[in-house]
Amino acid sequence: MKLLIDDANLDAIKDIVSLYPVDGVTTNPTILSKAGENPKDRLLKIRDLIGSDLDLHCQVVASKKEEIIAQARKLVKLLGANTYIKIPASGEGFKAIEELTKEGIKITATGIYSPLQAFLAAKAGAKYLAPYVNRIDNLGYDGLAVTRKIQNILEANDFEAQILAASFKNSNQVLDLAERGVGALTLSPDVFKGLVNDRNVDFAIKTFEDDFGRILGEGQTFSDIL
Ligand code: G3P
Repeated sequence: MKLLIDDANLDAIKDIVSLYPVDGVTTNPTILSKAGENPKDRLLKIRDLIGSDLDLHCQVVASKKEEIIAQARKLVKLLGANTYIKIPASGEGFKAIEELTKEGIKITATGIYSPLQAFLAAKAGAKYLAPYVNRIDNLGYDGLAVTRKIQNILEANDFEAQILAASFKNSNQVLDLAERGVGALTLSPDVFKGLVNDRNVDFAIKTFEDDFGRILGEGQTFSDIL
């Protein structure tokens, strides 16, 4: 399972990448607008920061097929290998996904609220499908159940597409999909940090250090004797 950062703040990305095993960054127009910088410049900075080996997902801002396709081609040219173009899974998005996939451009179908949206995007050739777990919950439905249903559809049809679940607000939502083994999750920096946020863990680590210090002297570790 891949783990990505759903953010465009450079300090936050640097911080998370330095602490956690991370496979890339996802953005959307809202996330980029929060960065308060020309989106092209910010995307280039993110690519520079994470390097060419990590995945970078960038969303088109268009609803007509031809415009979606034109933006997708330019974004891939700009951001290089391991770039995924996010296309909303509705309207003319499906046809654009089909055509771009034939050109070898990797697509993440986004804005997914229902299993059938995901089915159509997978059939069109998307590499990833992004259900919005928490936003679905906020509508009074069950975001995790929708995501599990999408996983069933992928398995039943032998689709190549994988789930890239998005819109998380708590660790329990992440845990459920980690157990299920979906393809990828993208988390905001806050949710990332909340995954292991436990005073018992901090206490255990501190106790190990204190106990070790009793042999060699307070604050002494292997670094002082090896
Ligand atoms: O790209 C979609 C995802 O970022 C949505 O997350 O937290 O705005 O619901 P959120």
